[in-house]
Amino acid sequence: MSEASTVAPNEDLIVSVSEVTLRFGGVTSLSDVSLDQRRGEILSVIGPNGAGKTSLFNCLTGVYEPQEGSIQFCGDPHREPVEVIGRRPNRVSRLGIARTFQTSRLFNALTTFENVKIGVESRQHTGPIGAVLRLPRTRREERESDQRTLELLEFVGLRAQANTLSSALAFGDQRRLEIARALGTEPSLLLLDEPAAGANQSEKAELERVIRRVNSELGISVLLIEHDMRLVMSIAERVVVLNFGEVIATGTPATVQRDKRVIEAYLGTTEDEEAG
Ligand SMILES: Nc1ncnc2c1ncn2[C@@H]1O[C@H](COP(=O)(O)OP(=O)(O)OP(=O)(O)O)[C@@H](O)[C@H]1O
Ligand SMILES: [Mg+2]
Repeated sequence: MSEASTVAPNEDLIVSVSEVTLRFGGVTSLSDVSLDQRRGEILSVIGPNGAGKTSLFNCLTGVYEPQEGSIQFCGDPHREPVEVIGRRPNRVSRLGIARTFQTSRLFNALTTFENVKIGVESRQHTGPIGAVLRLPRTRREERESDQRTLELLEFVGLRAQANTLSSALAFGDQRRLEIARALGTEPSLLLLDEPAAGANQSEKAELERVIRRVNSELGISVLLIEHDMRLVMSIAERVVVLNFGEVIATGTPATVQRDKRVIEAYLGTTEDEEAG
C-alpha cells in the first residue's frame, strides 16, 4: 500500500472500517479492508467492476454481515463510536447512515413528494396505533414531515415536481430524488453508490452541486462510489481504491491517479473489456 489507509490517530472520525473481510462461499468480496473517514469529509471509493465497492456499502448499512473485522461509526462527536456490524439495516439507518443505490429503488407508483416523505417518516415515532387514532402528536408529526419533505425537495431542486410520479421524472431528477429521500432519514453519513452513472453532462453538474451542498451546508460526511473520474477528482478530498476486494491505494486524488497499482488495475480492466 502506497499510503496508510487510516488517518492520524487523533483525527475526528465519522467512520472507521478495520480489517473487514466478507466472503460468499468461495468468493472473497472484501479482504482485510481498512479505511477511515474524517468527520465532514467527502471520501470517494473507486475501483474496477467487481472490486467490492457496493459490498463495502452493504457492510456499512447492515445489509451484509462480514465474517471478520469491525466498523466503528460515530455519528455524534459527543458520543462513543458504536459497532455497525451485527445491526440490522433499519437500526443502522437510525444511527445516522443513509444510502442511495447503484440502480434506482424509487417507488415508481408514488409521487416525488411521497418518495421523500417515506424517508422522513422513518425517523418519526408514531406507531400504527397512533396513526389510526390520529392522536395529536400524530397530527403534529404529519405537518412536520410534510414541511420537512418540501424543504428537502427544495434543497435538491425538485419542489416544482412534488406531485409528479417519480417514474415520470428525468433521469438526473430521479437521482437527486434518491438523495432527498436518503436525507429524510437525517443522516450524518451519506453513502452514494454511483450517483452519476447514466447521467448526462448537465445532470452530472447538477448532481455535483447537490453533493457539495449536502456536505457544506448540511455538514453531512459523504462517502461516494463513482466511476466518473472527473467528478471524483473534482469533489473528493481523498480517494480509496479497491481492487479484487483489497485496498490498493489511499490518498489525495492527485496521488492515487499517479499510483502504479491503480494505473495497472484500471488498465487491466480495459484490456479485459477489449478482449471480451
Ligand atoms: N450477495 C452476493 N452473493 C455472492 N457474491 C456476491 C454478492 N454480493 C457481491 N458479491 C460478489 O462480490 C464481488 C464484489 O461485488 P460488488 O458488487 O461489491 O462490486 P462493485 O465494486 O460494486 O462493482 P461494480 O462497479 O460493478 O458495481 C463480486 O465478485 C460479486 O460477484
Ligand atoms: Mg457496485
